[in-house]
Amino acid sequence: MAVDTVLNIVELRDAVSRWKADGNKVAFIPTMGALHEGHLSLVRQAKSEGARVVVSIFVNPLQFGPTEDYARYPRTLKEDIQTLRTVDADLVFAPSAVEIYPEGFQTTIRNNTMSAGLCGKFRPGHFDGVLTVVAKLLNIVSPDVALFGKKDYQQLRLIQRMASDLAMVVEIRGCETIREPDGLAMSSRNRYMTAEEREQATLIYQGMSAAKASWVAGERSLESLRNSFADVISRCPRMVIQYAEIVSKYNLAAAGAKVADKDLVLIVAIIFGDVRLIDNLEF
Ligand code: PAF
Repeated sequence: MAVDTVLNIVELRDAVSRWKADGNKVAFIPTMGALHEGHLSLVRQAKSEGARVVVSIFVNPLQFGPTEDYARYPRTLKEDIQTLRTVDADLVFAPSAVEIYPEGFQTTIRNNTMSAGLCGKFRPGHFDGVLTVVAKLLNIVSPDVALFGKKDYQQLRLIQRMASDLAMVVEIRGCETIREPDGLAMSSRNRYMTAEEREQATLIYQGMSAAKASWVAGERSLESLRNSFADVISRCPRMVIQYAEIVSKYNLAAAGAKVADKDLVLIVAIIFGDVRLIDNLEF
């Protein structure tokens, strides 16, 4: 069966209200489209719990900086809708930019702490844009649960923080990163890479795994753990580490120079030609 696609807020709310009146659980998966197995795994998970599943597809202008890839971000709505059929999604919400940001829009959401480091340091304003659109989408859909991939680890923690800080009545669930067979985390941006770059990109997962192996073997020096990662990445001179940080899984606070804590995650960003790839591995 075709997946129903709605373009405006009124129609979306109508559909969701009908499901709720019938006693259905509603799950929501916000995306920017260019769907891949990572997104589909979220739909499958929600469907396996018997929920009605809404997927939004909206390339959010507010979360891209002036020199970032908003214009070239892949827009593949037709294929995305086809793909969502295969996993039995119930509804696609594909609003226009004016539907989300009508004339006169002037309210945004800002996190003042956890958004400062990691990606936030290199993408000023990015997380304000993410939080603002996610808050608006959650208000539009009013789901019981919203699912996000752990690949965007900082994003996930910021959205959980926002939901808690603003007493939102929704479960924000983080789901495991889906990887290609060689370990590369699935991402809509992977398609920017040439075949050769794509092959080399496996070094990111190899590097993180090397750092984790050192950790498991008892290494606790932050510098040594970072070096385990950096040594692998240095096999491809075109790959530049924008950051590689070991932080708390929960509040993203930096670990001390001698890592004694548990519940840590290594979060990395790599610049590879004109592609920026992020990934992480929980220790
Ligand atoms: O992770 C993404 O694709 C986006 O940041 C999100 C959560 C859909 C908000 O635009």
